[in-house]
Amino acid sequence: MLENLPEYVKVVEVGPRDGLQNEEQLVAACDKIRLIEALAQTGLKHIEITSFVSPKWIPQLADGLEVAQTIKLPQDIVTSALVPNLIGYEKAKLAKLPEIAIFMSATEAHSQKNINKSIASALSTLAEVIERAKKNSKRVRCYLSVVFECPYEGPVAVKKVADISEKLISLGVDEIALSDTIGAATPKTVLNLINQLTEKINHRQLALHFHDTRGTALVNVLAGLEAGITTFDASIGGMGGCPYAPGAAGNLATEDLVYLLHSLGIATGVDLEKLITCGHLAETILGKQLPGRYLRSALTKTNEQPSKSGNVRLITQ
Ligand code: HMG
Ligand code: MG
Repeated sequence: MLENLPEYVKVVEVGPRDGLQNEEQLVAACDKIRLIEALAQTGLKHIEITSFVSPKWIPQLADGLEVAQTIKLPQDIVTSALVPNLIGYEKAKLAKLPEIAIFMSATEAHSQKNINKSIASALSTLAEVIERAKKNSKRVRCYLSVVFECPYEGPVAVKKVADISEKLISLGVDEIALSDTIGAATPKTVLNLINQLTEKINHRQLALHFHDTRGTALVNVLAGLEAGITTFDASIGGMGGCPYAPGAAGNLATEDLVYLLHSLGIATGVDLEKLITCGHLAETILGKQLPGRYLRSALTKTNEQPSKSGNVRLITQ
């Protein structure tokens, strides 16, 4: 344990997409832009800024193109957006994003709920998107949802995940983000999945995307590191969830992930203090507290006092 850890881990910030998509109260485009621009000042180099899905399905991100075309970010930030089909791809192209994030599910039931398509139909749509993206020299990441457990079908067989992953790689996907959509993974299941997948797929083509429903996200990161994974997704303040997966809570919080990695001597290039400022900004924009543990502890120590009602209230900034 804790041997053979990497020197550097790539942190992919998914808060502006995975985090915000689950918020019922519509957030103004200018606030989304403010948050993304602040995140870009923290040292994060990979930010998923929005999605180009049907606005009927995810009204919160209907302003994706406006956000993507208005933000001003340093040249070295890699931006991406979630894309389900060619309509979404063309928007990502219009926004000049260097990377697209396609997505599909490891189970038929989640696939139907999330994109109204079977796995086979999703694969054929994605094949067209990948082909077009590659022609335009765009990097393609693909989320594979419910790789450990599905809210509709229960535990998912590793073989099923392996077959789809191998197919995605053969279609030209650069990176697969193995997604624990409902936060059901444990270190043992993480090790088992990665060890089996890396028999045929290079571990550098795999990333881990944890939701923290049962509080196991950080220990799962440790298991992922042990298994050789060096790319992890996280969301500022732990915002997030999948509206089409009952029980999906927030993502692993970016501050918690960075704190753990730094404590292990693993570089991320991210400034933890600046992340806290972003977490605070996200809370201000959403008008509520976020679940990130490091964020809560940092804000409680420096800025907050308990109110008479027992709720924590901010007294500075
Ligand atoms: P559909 O309703 O089955 O049918 O949607 P459609 O393809 O015929 O499209 C219906 C309407 O949407 C049409 O418009 C299309 O033009 C339009 P109408 O003729 O009715 O006016 N449309 C679009 N509009 C804008 N952008 C587009 C687009 N595509 C079609 N790209 C579809 C199928 C896939 C579009 C829909 O089901 C959809 O958008 N689903 C996305 C759901 C979603 O975003 N879920 C959350 C993200 S996944 C996630 O969170 C998991 C992840 O974090 C990893 C994890 O944790 O597991 C990634
Ligand atoms: Mg997710």
